[in-house]
Amino acid sequence: MKTIENNTITKENIGQTLELYGWVQKKRDLGGVIFIDLRDRSGLIQLIVHPNSKAYEIASTLKNEYAIKVKGTVNKREKINSNMKTGEIEIDTEEVEIINTATDTPFEIKDDTTALEDTRLKYRYLDLRRQSLKDKIMKRAKITRCIRNFLDDNGFIDIETPVLCRSTPEGARDYLVPSRINKGSFYALPQSPQILKQLLMVSGFEKYYQIAKCFRDEDLRADRQPEFTQVDVELSFVDEFDVMNVIEKLIAHIFKEIKGIDIQLPLKRMKYDDAIRLYGSDKPDLRFEMPIQEVTDIFKNTSLEFFQKVIKEEGIINAIVLKNAADKYSRKNMDKLTEYVKTYKATGLAYLKVEDTLTGSIAKNLSIEEITNLKKELNLEKNDIIFFISGKEKIVKTSLGALRCKLATDNNLINEEDYKLLFVTDFPVFEYSEQENRYVACHHPFTAPKDEDIDKLLTDKANCYAKAYDIVINGYEAGGGSIRIHNQDTQKIMFESLGLSDEEAKNKFGFLMEAFKYGTPPHGGFALGLDRLTMLLTNTNNIRDVIAFPKTASASCLLTEAPNTVSKKQLEELGLYLKEESHEKQN
Ligand code: AMO
Repeated sequence: MKTIENNTITKENIGQTLELYGWVQKKRDLGGVIFIDLRDRSGLIQLIVHPNSKAYEIASTLKNEYAIKVKGTVNKREKINSNMKTGEIEIDTEEVEIINTATDTPFEIKDDTTALEDTRLKYRYLDLRRQSLKDKIMKRAKITRCIRNFLDDNGFIDIETPVLCRSTPEGARDYLVPSRINKGSFYALPQSPQILKQLLMVSGFEKYYQIAKCFRDEDLRADRQPEFTQVDVELSFVDEFDVMNVIEKLIAHIFKEIKGIDIQLPLKRMKYDDAIRLYGSDKPDLRFEMPIQEVTDIFKNTSLEFFQKVIKEEGIINAIVLKNAADKYSRKNMDKLTEYVKTYKATGLAYLKVEDTLTGSIAKNLSIEEITNLKKELNLEKNDIIFFISGKEKIVKTSLGALRCKLATDNNLINEEDYKLLFVTDFPVFEYSEQENRYVACHHPFTAPKDEDIDKLLTDKANCYAKAYDIVINGYEAGGGSIRIHNQDTQKIMFESLGLSDEEAKNKFGFLMEAFKYGTPPHGGFALGLDRLTMLLTNTNNIRDVIAFPKTASASCLLTEAPNTVSKKQLEELGLYLKEESHEKQN
């Protein structure tokens, strides 16, 4: 059995004879002496094989990725390699055994690979041999362990809930599993264990957690996978401040254990409305400033026609100021940025540069008063550049929010080692869906409204706020939760306000409503996105980097070729029939 990890070998071991196992990362034949980088999961160590060693003959036949066993003595290196953890030593090799050979790999196993991601995903088991990727997966295990330790030590009970269950109302599309025994019926894979963890509170477990797999059939992004993992938590007899307290202590514990960083508690809290107003996002990245500024009033007598039109239609004009960068923005750059904000439905992007005078797309139309007010309100200094977007409030905020982040990235304003955490609180209960032409739940329908807003649920939806909170780290929604409705009457009003008839509510959530009759404790909880948290702690912005076997953006696994067709017999057993054309493909 392998008992030694490469990275644990140090100067202290000099003179010892050790037995090592691993893979050949690289072999160099330097005029007689052979150098081999031996890789195991912990990292690399250099083997040296002299021509007079009995290992020499076999060593000269080694190729990259051969699995080998080595016996040798730890020596001090003549020339220290400070890039390697084991750079002060090497192994003077006495014996080499080839455990298994390897054919040429489809790409070279090295950290700075240029191989296409699709190729790497197809051969994910080889991709995972790359140290940078392996380190992230191992870090993930450490994060999970650290979370479990914290929750176990604080009285939370780990309880599994089923994967084959009923549709849960998290808002995405469900993955469905057809039932063979009950033909025509389907299980839904859980979008989260939301309802079941609430039922565990009814059962009296008081403090529950689970590292739970969740499934959502939604459009994928760099921080979204169709199956992902939540650290799911629920507590009884709590209010939202108690829950946020637990979340921030857990997060602080993780940062300390994993990064050695002391997070100052309590975390900053920002109301949802303020986050949107100032940063155009409910997950603001606070590693840099550049808040969105309200300038509609400054332009109330504007001669600019498109601003006039916006003001007349009760739209807004907002701005962001990028400090000391006006000289970096040519007409061409501005055109690119305009295209960028158009993807967020903005109609255009106006700008001003602070040179000796104000120049830029709207400079000619400015009155002296407007110039004075802009300079004063926006604290303008030489070489600043101001970006303006006007239109409907939602579009203005969203597009400037996105532009703010793009400008920060493009201008290197973000220190990648920096972490800025905050709670975004007081989310609206409802959001207006332009598609459906009605108010829908912002979170799931069990989220408790603020006590003072219960009476408004049916009459003033735009002004109802929830006991809901998200934890935001560096512009990512790392987790979220809420206090739940535990009172049957309020839950009924909530369903009604969402347009669910008694019948529909009973049909979908009857079992939950029934459970709530039996002395349900007040309860609330949260779920952290484990994948996203790991991304943040391993400094990657690609969620696939922290999942051993991830799916592509089109939700497929290139390694196992899932999803895939199944046999006619399997379909028949399930009582399923495909439409003709796909049926033919089947066979
Ligand atoms: P929510 O839907 O906000 O809340 O999910 C909680 C956290 O899970 C992560 N997350 C995802 N990560 C990767 N890929 C996805 N497709 C994905 N979707 C969500 C995010 C998010 O903050 N039941 C509630 C929690 C509760 O109220 O207790 C829930 O699921 O980091």
